[in-house]
Amino acid sequence: MGKSKAAPLDQAVADYLGSFALLADHADYIAINVSSPNTPDLRKLQDEERLRELLAALSAANRDRAVQPGKTKKPLLLKIAPDLSFRQIDDVLGAIAEFGLDGVIATNTTLERPGSFARITQTGGLSGPPLRRRSSEIINYIARATNGRLPIIGVGGINDAASAGEKLDAGATLVQVYTGMIFRGPFFALDVARALSDRQRFC
Ligand SMILES: Cc1cc2nc3c(=O)[nH]c(=O)nc-3n(C[C@H](O)[C@H](O)[C@H](O)COP(=O)(O)O)c2cc1C
Repeated sequence: MGKSKAAPLDQAVADYLGSFALLADHADYIAINVSSPNTPDLRKLQDEERLRELLAALSAANRDRAVQPGKTKKPLLLKIAPDLSFRQIDDVLGAIAEFGLDGVIATNTTLERPGSFARITQTGGLSGPPLRRRSSEIINYIARATNGRLPIIGVGGINDAASAGEKLDAGATLVQVYTGMIFRGPFFALDVARALSDRQRFC
C-alpha cells in the first residue's frame, strides 16, 4: 500500500493507517510502498524522520489489531527505491530494526537511465532489465549489512530463471516479478519456480 495521490505529505501517515485498517484482514503480508516514483512526494517518506514516524504508526496499528480476538499480526515489509545511496539504505535498515519490521522488498523502479538506457527519454520509473544489476547490488548490500537475518524479497529485472537465481545468490529469500510477467505471460511464475527448484536440487 502507498500514499494516495490526493493525500498531501503531512497527511501521509493517516492515509497509510486508513489503508491498513481496510486491508489488513485480507492480506497475507503488507508491503509498505514508499518508493513508487510516480506518486508525488511518496519517496520523501524514505527520509529518516518521516520513515520512522510512518513505521512507528503502522507497527503500533499492527500490534493493536492483533489483540482483538482471532486476529494476528500481519508481516510488514518495506519496499524501497533503487535510487537510494548505501548511506540512506543504512538509515532505512536502522528504522526497520527499530520498529521490528518483518522484511524489505528491494527494489521498486528506477529514475536512473543506466548505461545504454540513457537513450530512453520518457519520464517515470523504469523497470525490467535496466534495473537488474542495481537491484541485485542493493539486495547484496542489505544481506551483508544484516548478516542475512532480514528477509529480503528480491525484485527488479527478473525475466528468466537465471535472473531470479541471481537475486537468491545476492541474498534474497523470495523473489517478486512484474515486468517479466507482462512479457512472458501468466505461466512465467510457474516456469521460474520450477527452474529454481531444479537448481536447488542439483546444487
Ligand atoms: C506499471 C507498473 C506499476 C507498478 N505499480 C506498483 C505498485 O503499485 N506498488 C509497488 O510497490 N510497486 C509497483 N511497481 C513496481 C514493481 O512491483 C517492481 O518493483 C518493479 O517494476 C521492478 O520489478 P520488475 O523489473 O520485475 O518489473 C510497478 C511497476 C510497474 C512497471
